[in-house]
Amino acid sequence: MTHDAPSSTPLENLLTEDRHFPPSPEFAAQANAHGDLGAWAAADPESFWADQARELLTWQTPFTEVLDWSGAPHARWFADGRLNACHNAVDRHVEAGHGDRVALSFEGEPGDTSTLTYAELQQQVSRAANALVALGVRTGDRVAIYLPMIPEAVVAMLACARIGAVHSVVFGGFSAEALRSRVEDAEAVLVITADGGYRRGAASALKPAVDEALDPHHHPHGHLDEEAGPTSVRNVLVVRRTGQDVAWVEGRDVWWHEALEAASEQHEPVWVEAEHPLFILYTSGTTGKPKGIFHTTGGYLTQSAFTHLNVFDLKPETDVYWCTADVGWVTGHTYVVYGPLVNGATQVIYEGTPDTPHKGRWWEIVEKYGVTILYTAPTAIRTCMKWGEEIPGQFDLSSLRVLGSVGEPINPEAWMWYRRVIGGDRTPVVDTWWQTETGATMISPLPGVTATKPGSAQTPMPGISIDVVDEEAKSVPNGSGGYLVVTQPWPSMLRGIWGDEQRFKDTYWSRFPGLYFAGDGAKRDADGDIWLLGRVDDVMNVSGHRLSTTEIESALVSHPMVAEAAVVGASDETTGQAVVAFVILRAEYTDRVDGPGEGADVATTLRAHVTREIGPIAKPRSILVVTELPKTRSGKIMRRLLRDVAEHRPVGDVTTLADSTVMDLIASGLDKPTEP
Ligand code: WT7
Repeated sequence: MTHDAPSSTPLENLLTEDRHFPPSPEFAAQANAHGDLGAWAAADPESFWADQARELLTWQTPFTEVLDWSGAPHARWFADGRLNACHNAVDRHVEAGHGDRVALSFEGEPGDTSTLTYAELQQQVSRAANALVALGVRTGDRVAIYLPMIPEAVVAMLACARIGAVHSVVFGGFSAEALRSRVEDAEAVLVITADGGYRRGAASALKPAVDEALDPHHHPHGHLDEEAGPTSVRNVLVVRRTGQDVAWVEGRDVWWHEALEAASEQHEPVWVEAEHPLFILYTSGTTGKPKGIFHTTGGYLTQSAFTHLNVFDLKPETDVYWCTADVGWVTGHTYVVYGPLVNGATQVIYEGTPDTPHKGRWWEIVEKYGVTILYTAPTAIRTCMKWGEEIPGQFDLSSLRVLGSVGEPINPEAWMWYRRVIGGDRTPVVDTWWQTETGATMISPLPGVTATKPGSAQTPMPGISIDVVDEEAKSVPNGSGGYLVVTQPWPSMLRGIWGDEQRFKDTYWSRFPGLYFAGDGAKRDADGDIWLLGRVDDVMNVSGHRLSTTEIESALVSHPMVAEAAVVGASDETTGQAVVAFVILRAEYTDRVDGPGEGADVATTLRAHVTREIGPIAKPRSILVVTELPKTRSGKIMRRLLRDVAEHRPVGDVTTLADSTVMDLIASGLDKPTEP
């Protein structure tokens, strides 16, 4: 693995940012966070986190140990305590008399709605937990969840947590192939899915992908290798969402509603040790194979609850919180399921996209439910900017009081637009930096405390130790850039990569021994505030979703037409980065693309192929057919040069190329790029 120098973002612009938005006195007076938090936490982070764990969570057996770092890089937090994540997220609120509070207000894409109070949620998760047990799922077993963004997704996750089974949510937009590899890697015993979901005005099937993933033999026209053997999955639990016809495997498939109806609504949560695994979530790395990031219970819940409460200034009795993320991503785990529910929040979840049936859909939802806290991604904000401010202008957004951003760097223009148009020039905007691996927010302003600055995530959370270092792991001075690292263990840190100890050490702990290497470039401005500058490895960020260049390259070369492929993330106005692929075709195909227009057919075919292999989110924006790829003498593809081409810049330094004429060849063949 090599690392490019941290980004070519025009830093001068960032560093001259002098707009500040200090909190209003009214906001500061009522804020959860206060100015001394940071100093208190810095003085003794362990006792700070221990206090949070005691205050924010309910323990069946209190812990006496706080942090054990003797097995570094594996941390153990609160290890002798016992608790249950579902009990913390649900039961204890009912026991405290808040059973009638709405936990989830669901808005389906077709406009159907439903509500679950905490008491109803408790009944649902108890029934679901009993149903899982009846299917033989035991504490420690892995369960794959492949569902649309519907309440059952939340119930399914909590039901797993309730019995101490480890959930592995696979985003519903991933392909059968991607689902299979995740099911196999985690050796899941059960898949929870649905007949389908709604997507841009139509019912779209989900179960066929599960059928194909689990049993390729019965899908001779499917894409998966027919030699693929059976998996460890014994049952498939199917939620009826769209009512479309589904193929049924007798003895394997079970309807969710039937299983829940047959189950009792009494279920005693299984008390687990604080370090019991809670979930695995696969994310893209720098190689072709996704990494199963796994998180445990006590530390993860502590930091999730603490950050959710303080970063969004949540008041559980009065706020209506809405995070637009799907539960298929870590944002949906921490800031739809665990953080908000552990804090007893009332929240909105929405199945659809922002533009169905019209481009004001999100703002209509904010108005309808009186949303007070909104958490979304810069790509969505930029898309809404493009549609024009008249659209949100048609709705009453005055309920909003805190706005959050996550997933990728937010450019100052988008930040300003978000604050002005959506927040009425009134709301704090918090730009939260974190990762699947960090489990919860690590860097963010604190509303009511921090004077916010458009485009900067600014300050490490209380109790979190962040640094920006140079190649030699030395802290850089203010005004300089380098690599973002975490210098001390934190409660919600990943506990490893499922089944791959070596990769865990190599990826995060070898670049700077003893420091957690995040893979992001960062800069400290003159005030010491942190600016995130994007990835410094072969990971792309498209619409806040993490994609691996290598994984898409492997997908491309698995097509018979392709001899070689190189993928880069080119900057894109809306999605942050976009996938651009350079492919060399096999000799027997090259003749065919000479005629006018033939290149477009190649691109169409290959785009569809990547969709099948990984999912639509990985589909390249452009595919350029070339005859050579730029390589170093040691054979490594120089993606930096391809990025120059993809971003229409003059090509940079080519002196390390094995053959320096290659770039001319590429440039000369590029007069007809194939954009969709
Ligand atoms: C990568 C992690 C955290 C949940 C969503 C993504 C980028 C994330 C920010 C931000 C700049 C950000 C980083 C990080 N990222 N938030 N506020 N500013 N960059 O989780 O899929 O694990 O991706 O997303 O590059 O490493 P993920």
